[in-house]
Amino acid sequence: MTSPHVQLREITDDNRKAVRALRVRRKQRRFVASVAESLEDAAAEPEAHPWARAVYVGDEPVGFVMLSWNPPDGGPYGRFFLWRLLIDRHHQGRGIGREVLTQIADLVRAEGADELLTSYETGPGNPGPFYRRFGFEPTGEIDDDGEIVLRLPLPPPGRTTPAR
Ligand SMILES: CC(C)(COP(=O)(O)OP(=O)(O)OC[C@H]1O[C@@H](n2cnc3c(N)ncnc32)[C@H](O)[C@@H]1OP(=O)(O)O)[C@@H](O)C(=O)NCCC(=O)NCCS
Repeated sequence: MTSPHVQLREITDDNRKAVRALRVRRKQRRFVASVAESLEDAAAEPEAHPWARAVYVGDEPVGFVMLSWNPPDGGPYGRFFLWRLLIDRHHQGRGIGREVLTQIADLVRAEGADELLTSYETGPGNPGPFYRRFGFEPTGEIDDDGEIVLRLPLPPPGRTTPAR
């Protein structure tokens, strides 16, 4: 499958309403907070150094991603933590989520980080397989909310997996 042309754009007064309107499937709501809630969490937790972007395909907002970006105190999960990721229900299954992970991994690697962490809640339809397919691996930890912690190793540029 060719990857769709995905762009990460800043969230501004011009697009905030459209980004907040993005929705996952009803059964997926247990796995991720809404965009509105995530932006509230970001405002409430500046110490986590929230970094949020809208995911666009062409001129259409189709998803949302938020990281804890290298917080000064190191954060509970290390320097770079993928805090929220969602692709709108009408746009799932087209390779957009995978492309977002690719771009985020590149951005974080460019900061000199050697890993990206995330966590997910278990249950039917959970995103664990999506992350593992990409290369995340369980650290063996379960966080305070019972979520499984995953780590994506980020080899330095020039030492990536050889092309297949
Ligand atoms: C998980 C999510 C971000 C994936 O985005 P997406 O754009 O639908 O995923 P992609 O189309 O890029 O899928 C990439 C691969 O992962 C697989 N995949 C995606 N979601 C999956 C799931 N829940 N379970 C198993 N496999 C999954 C796809 O089949 C695809 O496999 P392939 O490599 O064989 O083609 C999206 O489904 C979503 O927003 N889910 C609800 C919110 C959520 O769970 N977010 C994560 C919070 S921790």
